[in-house]
Amino acid sequence: MNPDLNKLQPYPFEKLKALLGQVTPSADYSAIPLSIGEPKHPSPQFVLDSITNNLGKVAIYPSTKGLPEFRKSMTNWATQRFNLKPGTLCSEDNILPVNGTREAIFSFTQAVIDREASNQALVLSPNPFYQIYEGASYLAGAELELLPTLESSQFIPDYDSVADSTWDRCQILFMCSPGNPTGAVTPAETLKKLIKLADKHDFIIASDECYSEIYC
Ligand SMILES: Cc1ncc(COP(=O)(O)O)c(C=O)c1O
Repeated sequence: MNPDLNKLQPYPFEKLKALLGQVTPSADYSAIPLSIGEPKHPSPQFVLDSITNNLGKVAIYPSTKGLPEFRKSMTNWATQRFNLKPGTLCSEDNILPVNGTREAIFSFTQAVIDREASNQALVLSPNPFYQIYEGASYLAGAELELLPTLESSQFIPDYDSVADSTWDRCQILFMCSPGNPTGAVTPAETLKKLIKLADKHDFIIASDECYSEIYC
């Protein structure tokens, strides 16, 4: 067996279930489940209609890259949403649809980490964090260093306190903006600083923006 499997922790929802198992809820209140984040609203009708009307198309093996028209519409969406210069994203080279970002984050980390680098491979991650950052890093043979997201730094890691020797070993910096669970949005100035650091120390910024559409 892969010995790195021993480094993995149980999923937080299992830990939560075990903790809640010992609690008898008050009969005076009804529970608001704040666990796995399952949708609590009905699916939009146009989505259901589109799936129903196209069920016949599931009789083939889908390609990993997905349909060209789907990749194109993802490219158009990201270009419009993030106000990118037209042509910044290429639907052939820069876009890959996935069934869930957990799988994408895991596979991306396996592809990027060089476990034989002269310096022990290091991944930097905010803490608290989405758990797959940890499992993906360990199974790719990297060490993980956690950067606390404290109130004193507006719930964003204090990147200025990271030593140059740490940036030198860093191969992936995970970011999450708006952050889970704090909702903190990383300021543009900080992003610019991180991009400069990534160029200088040759690491990749993995920007997990799965909450980019939650804003007010
Ligand atoms: C920060 C973060 N990234 C990624 C994911 C994965 O999302 P999904 O696999 O549903 O796309 C989640 C889900 O909770 C998350 O909170």
